[in-house]
Amino acid sequence: QVVPVILSGGTGSRLWPLSRTQQPKPFIPLPDGENLLGKTLKRVQALPHGGRLLMVTNRDYYFLSRDTIASALGADHEDRVEYLLEPKARNTAAAIAAAALWAQDQVGPEAVLLVLPSDHLIEDAAGFCAAVGKAARLAQQGYLVTFGVVPSRPETGYGYIAQGAALEGGFVVDRFLEKPNRETAEAYLAGGQYLWNAGIFCFTAKNLLQAMSEHAPAVHEATLAAWAQGQANGDTWWLGKAFSQSPDISIDYAVMESHDRVAVVPATFDWNDLGAWEAMGELLPADSEGNRGHGELLWEDSRQCVVYSPERLTALLGVEDLLVVDTPDALLIARRDRDQDVKRIVERLKGSS
Ligand code: GDD
Ligand code: MG
Repeated sequence: QVVPVILSGGTGSRLWPLSRTQQPKPFIPLPDGENLLGKTLKRVQALPHGGRLLMVTNRDYYFLSRDTIASALGADHEDRVEYLLEPKARNTAAAIAAAALWAQDQVGPEAVLLVLPSDHLIEDAAGFCAAVGKAARLAQQGYLVTFGVVPSRPETGYGYIAQGAALEGGFVVDRFLEKPNRETAEAYLAGGQYLWNAGIFCFTAKNLLQAMSEHAPAVHEATLAAWAQGQANGDTWWLGKAFSQSPDISIDYAVMESHDRVAVVPATFDWNDLGAWEAMGELLPADSEGNRGHGELLWEDSRQCVVYSPERLTALLGVEDLLVVDTPDALLIARRDRDQDVKRIVERLKGSS
């Protein structure tokens, strides 16, 4: 049995202008009408868990989250989901540390957490369950467990895992490197020993907190204080304002790169991260020139472009490798290989507002 922890407090700034502060990535309706959080919730229902499920998100997304839960699982499932609400987005290290404090208090220090981002597509529920079973056993042996995906391109937006000695159900992680530069990613892909980190983690509450206090003490202290503030008010779902003092750092940089007891379970399931436009493009139908798109589109003498324009007719003429995203109040035009940098636009917009 695992305690599923769903993270949905990131804004997904690389998917701008489709993702916005008011409509972050987990809540964007996909071409099939469902959103990513809804899909994640359905996937979790297939796992052996004790009926308790924790959603860690920003206070601002509480109502959005409730709406999604009601439409994905039905209104009667709403009370099976518990919340931990952040006053400010501090990235995944703090969100996960807070989840571990909650689990330690509510379930016990040996509780096995399964941390799930809400920006993934996984169709094979049975394969996913089998991998989670292996990960839970390794977590009980003291490992912080990751899930490894065979890489298919030199993606710079993911973590890379060097697989070491075999364990039962997985492997020791010899090295974890988060978001390498292009050159390194290309070398890792060519070398064939590295896996992508799927972004899903499994560990006991106690081991995660121990690792956090060792490698990221400032995150640990801030979340501990925030948890205590919530407790003082009698709220197990409210993180106090001390949470804002936590450094803004992901679990990958804060813990996974430095910890020496990390394991990886091969992902025996399909996996697609919708982190940036390149990944989103892969879901869209392609024409014979390699153009992919969503909406009413017209291509003329154009190749290898990704266009997302659900609202109005968009025509491309004589261009290659372009990314075009059209929404009612913002238009993005970029070179396709710059999709990781779209977040820079969002940073500039935030800076000027
Ligand atoms: N509650 C909460 N609070 N959730 C957050 C926060 C936060 O401050 N920041 C991000 N999240 C959520 C996002 O909504 C997403 O579901 C998940 O945590 C992961 O955050 P991302 O920002 O999407 O991470 P990433 O894609 O850059 O990198 C991670 O995932 C990759 C695979 O998709 C890393 O784990 C990489 O190593 C990995 O390869
Ligand atoms: Mg992501």
